[in-house]
Amino acid sequence: MLAPRFVARQLFVGVRRWNHTPAIPALSPVTEQDVAHFAKFLAPTSIFSTLGPNPIPISELSPYNNDWMGKYHGKATTVVKPKTTEEVSKIVKHCCERRIGIVPQGGNTGLVGGSVPIGNELILNLGSMSKVRSFDPVSGILVADAGCILQSLTDYVAPHNHIMPLDLGAKGSCQIGGNVATNAGGLRLLRYGSLHGSVLGLEVVLPDGTILDQLTTLRKDNTGYDLKQLFIGAEGTLGVITGVSLLTPPSPQASNNVILALPSFDNVLPLYKTVKQQLSEILSAFEFIDRTAYDLAVKHGQGRGLHDDEIEGAECFVLVETSGGRREHDEQKLNDLLENLLTSDEPLINTGVLSQNPAQFSSLWALREGVTEAVSKEGKAYKYDISVPLSTFKDVVDLTREHLKSKGLLHEKGVKHVIGYGHVGDGNLHLNVVADAYTLEIQNALEPFIYELVASHKGSVSAEHGIGAMKTHALHYSKSGVSIEWMKKLKQLFDPHGIMNPGKVLEMP
Ligand code: FAD
Ligand code: MLT
Ligand code: ZN
Repeated sequence: MLAPRFVARQLFVGVRRWNHTPAIPALSPVTEQDVAHFAKFLAPTSIFSTLGPNPIPISELSPYNNDWMGKYHGKATTVVKPKTTEEVSKIVKHCCERRIGIVPQGGNTGLVGGSVPIGNELILNLGSMSKVRSFDPVSGILVADAGCILQSLTDYVAPHNHIMPLDLGAKGSCQIGGNVATNAGGLRLLRYGSLHGSVLGLEVVLPDGTILDQLTTLRKDNTGYDLKQLFIGAEGTLGVITGVSLLTPPSPQASNNVILALPSFDNVLPLYKTVKQQLSEILSAFEFIDRTAYDLAVKHGQGRGLHDDEIEGAECFVLVETSGGRREHDEQKLNDLLENLLTSDEPLINTGVLSQNPAQFSSLWALREGVTEAVSKEGKAYKYDISVPLSTFKDVVDLTREHLKSKGLLHEKGVKHVIGYGHVGDGNLHLNVVADAYTLEIQNALEPFIYELVASHKGSVSAEHGIGAMKTHALHYSKSGVSIEWMKKLKQLFDPHGIMNPGKVLEMP
């Protein structure tokens, strides 16, 4: 979990921005007059600006202008933190009239450069809209402001014996509005499905300032086009999400986990089949980390490492979680599975370590969840979040490593590690290239190489993190020309002046 609200990161010096234009000529910069206008309806504590009567130093805007990885850097002069939907509406209406670009921002934990400006757009941060609006403990339907932090919502519903339908390593900082805007996947998707299913309704401020109230709490509502779906995964390019209604599942009565050490990656696929078959309805996660990812997690203090004899000869690891209704029944099933796996004639695993108490349960999860944090401590990560057939996970990692080696880039001062981890159950591989620095040489070696590899497997260049600023030029590897054309038409319809998160998802016209 991310401890501080905004994690301070060393700023990237070198190539300043990636893959997109640094200025947006068609849009206006925020001026002192704009700040004065905002001050008419926003509290002084809701405006942070280097302009106007109470200017602050630009350094105070760093947590908003720089992304979590220290890779993308905006130049906003002004951040507004409205407290109500009406305030959001007034800000957006003004920006529409003045043609000021707006970057909706949640917890700023996004990994594709979507949450920070390309130039000097206004940052509209939702962090001050953090109230739960209602919760029905019978239906499990939660209605919350978009700025509620995922962990706070988890804590809110826990005493009512419910959980959030999603969980991710950034839960201590990311916001539910940001989760919906990115259609975040995470660690529970295998069990609870995507947010396209769990979100029942949204309240959205459209790019002209109109409030679209679709905050329904109905499970069933077949009344024409389901507009809310358009905003799920739109990454703030079609409007600002201000409220979310979603279905929270009942808490499982019992959760267990086990980490399995595998002698070969080739065993992952048969293992997944076996585990699915034997655990059936209680299987809630099946997560993969390769050996290098595991070693980095341990090196950087994410969870307690296993004993040397437990990891000897392990090429990769799988974390299996069960969530079910009866502890003894689930434990029995998990123990039977382990016994079958270990006593089989051709064992798929070397060993399995079962958590015995809540602390061990968390520690095993930390080995998997903590990889992102570990990688960022190890160096600068080029993160590729791809959907490819499970059978190709290892090949994709190996081919990328070989490719970098052939370019002479695999060394201590260049690329240090090429690792793979991710959500096997969802066909989602996180391919991370960990380097000493962000350089164009490495970037050019990786792209379009990786995107072409993904396209050759008919995969997706973004399984769950989104397109942001990072992949606008790569969209065509996964989407047809016709699809992109219709995405552009939709963008034009909702946001004819192109003020809403410009240069994200779609390249600027
Ligand atoms: P931000 O980073 O602030 O914004 C992300 C995008 O959403 C931007 O385009 C922004 O403009 C837009 N946006 C934010 N709020 C709103 C709003 N209210 N209205 C409209 N648009 C908005 N992602 C996964 O999918 N699965 C994971 O398992 C996962 N694990 C992670 C682990 C770590 C340690 C980290 C750092 C990140 C991880 N991520 C993961 C990526 C990231 O956390 C998610 O994408 C998350 O949903 C972003 O939420 P946020 O509030 O931080 O949004
Ligand atoms: C994860 O699965 O850990 C997240 O998506 C973050 C990452 O890719 O590093
Ligand atoms: Zn992930």
